[in-house]
Amino acid sequence: MIVIKTIAETQQYIAHEKAAGKSIGFVPTMGALHAGHLALVARAKQSCDVVVVSIFVNPTQFTDASDLAKYPVTLEADMEKLEASGVDVLFLPSVVEMYPNEASKHTDYDLGYLDTVLEAAARPGHFKGVALIVGKLLDAVQPNQLFMGQKDFQQLQVVRKLIKDHNIPTELVSCPIVREADGLAMSSRNVRLHGEHREVATELSKALYQLKEDVGSKPLAEAKAVALAHLNSHPLIDVVYLETVNGHTLVPVTDLAEAPEVAALLAARVGGVHLLDNIILKP
Ligand code: PAF
Repeated sequence: MIVIKTIAETQQYIAHEKAAGKSIGFVPTMGALHAGHLALVARAKQSCDVVVVSIFVNPTQFTDASDLAKYPVTLEADMEKLEASGVDVLFLPSVVEMYPNEASKHTDYDLGYLDTVLEAAARPGHFKGVALIVGKLLDAVQPNQLFMGQKDFQQLQVVRKLIKDHNIPTELVSCPIVREADGLAMSSRNVRLHGEHREVATELSKALYQLKEDVGSKPLAEAKAVALAHLNSHPLIDVVYLETVNGHTLVPVTDLAEAPEVAALLAARVGGVHLLDNIILKP
């Protein structure tokens, strides 16, 4: 695995590989890698000749400075995992490389409705920061395919919109959620869950699986209400939202017939940790 720290060298390397007829797969990360990230790498390796992973803890997507300061940095272990997974290039830029000046930290890009609901409502500016850095990373890596996890469902729709609105010649590949044996969706934040909080966190995926089963026999709104009541009955779970939405626009739906794809999106705080999970109810 080669490590490249600048945009110019990355572009040069990629241009050389593309000229040799190779396809480029890209997995952007903020490090603290777990099996979910490695599943993205494995998926990228299946369909691309060269796999590039970036590790960059993006300051513009943190709305709370203390969250940024607390973000786990495990570079040595991450590099070992990437090397063992057969990654070809690690793009490891500095903050100055990605944001050389104040102006480069700002964007007028309008994400519309996607930037007003669910995660965006709680973290204003977060998705603008995500769109800004993903745009810059795509410009550096110029991949044929971009591999991102379904767990961050809203982020996926933001990146889908970014690619479409800017005619970026990259295909977004959405990869299924990777779960712990007990169903908890894998996340870099899970290391902050301990004891009874770690145990109760499994209720999130259980509620979503139950919801999916219930929509076979109950109206969607009723199935959602049952799931919400179940989650709210746990004193250690603080539900931020449970919403059934059109899987592309994230507009709420109350009936499966209202949209071609319907997903249930859940966020909850458990032991002070903000957890996300979701399930596709209608693919
Ligand atoms: O999902 C993440 O790890 C980040 O939001 C991303 C896509 C790497 C952008 O910083």
